[in-house]
Amino acid sequence: MARPGMRSTRVLRVTPSGHGPDDAAAIAEAAALLRAGELVAFPTETVYGLGADATSTRAVEGIFTAKERPRSDPLIVHLAAAEELGRVARGVPELAGRLAARFWPGPLTLILPRTETIPPIVAAGGPTVGVRVPAHPVARALIAAAGVPVAAPSANRFMHTSPTTAAHVLADLDGRIDCVLDAGPCAVGVESTVLDVTVTPPRILRPGGVTLEALRTVAPEIAGPIEAPTLDAGSVGASGGRLPGAHSASPSPARAPGQMARHYAPRTRLVVFDAQGVRGLAAVRGEVLAARARGERVGALLPDDEARVLEGEHPGVAVAALGPAGDLAVHTRRLYAALRELDALGLDLIVAHTFSREGLGLALADRLRRAAGGQLQPVAQ
Ligand code: TXA
Ligand code: MG
Repeated sequence: MARPGMRSTRVLRVTPSGHGPDDAAAIAEAAALLRAGELVAFPTETVYGLGADATSTRAVEGIFTAKERPRSDPLIVHLAAAEELGRVARGVPELAGRLAARFWPGPLTLILPRTETIPPIVAAGGPTVGVRVPAHPVARALIAAAGVPVAAPSANRFMHTSPTTAAHVLADLDGRIDCVLDAGPCAVGVESTVLDVTVTPPRILRPGGVTLEALRTVAPEIAGPIEAPTLDAGSVGASGGRLPGAHSASPSPARAPGQMARHYAPRTRLVVFDAQGVRGLAAVRGEVLAARARGERVGALLPDDEARVLEGEHPGVAVAALGPAGDLAVHTRRLYAALRELDALGLDLIVAHTFSREGLGLALADRLRRAAGGQLQPVAQ
């Protein structure tokens, strides 16, 4: 039931392929809502997006209201096909064309100069626009049927963990949006890589589903993200109560609009140690023991093998498993759902550690850092 004064959110189920017997009707219905200026959450390969007609200021205003998102945070415009790029962006550098040809449809957002088709509200008033062609067949069918470019941030309340299922969307936005197209869980699990191609060399503003290594196979000069430093090694004890910086909203050194240090965050305090493997597990174990000694209820986010070890040692600890050790794609796919699962338990503390910075590990470390309030905890060698 919708709350008084709010709309009720319709759930339209479709198959992940978008080719089920009833899919075309559901997609057409959702597309008609978009054309009418309404808000529709839809699956992409990364996370669920909250879509509105990107050419309508009024429709896009609805996104900011539903999410309680500040208007200083620009939105990504989604297209059904790369051929439509000229409608929303101009002065597309040759390199951007090559990147689009290689990675679209897929989890790569290109920052480009915007055309007048895209109103200022989409771009936080700036001269550029973020554009991508999502790979999810339901997303592409929806955008094609709508016949308009679709502005869509992740379909969560501002600063909260991004949704990878329709249930996550409803947990944050039920009664605030018109419709959610439910096609099951997202395959990638973290947002697209945001690449600024208006600067030379192009720079990653947000690591994501397309890895830096993959981008560099097309353009070796691409600059990686500016990563916030971990705290000074001496500045915090591994078991030192409330950690400085946890859940502060100070901006990170990465100066992309809307790139808050605290983002993608659970409500429960999260501590993430910047170490992997045996050292990572040891750091997590130490913090878990210390928290329990303080009488706190604690949870941990770990790969399967480490999860089994910790559960064996400390049966009272809530453990969410991220999949087989070393499988960064599965860790990435499960990250947000695992965070939400632990967050729902009303714990005092969640503890995790980072992974290799190779491949998807860069995006994983970035999201873990932001979810932890902007800082990773260093671990002595
Ligand atoms: O995978 C994704 O990118 C998902 C799905 C739904 O496509 N969308 C998503 O949108 O993550 P959102 O709004 O949660 O994050 C978009 C981020 C903004 O916070 C901002 O940092 C960056 O992309 N961005 C968008 N437009 C930009 C612009 N014109 N200049 C610089 N950064 C921009
Ligand atoms: Mg988001």
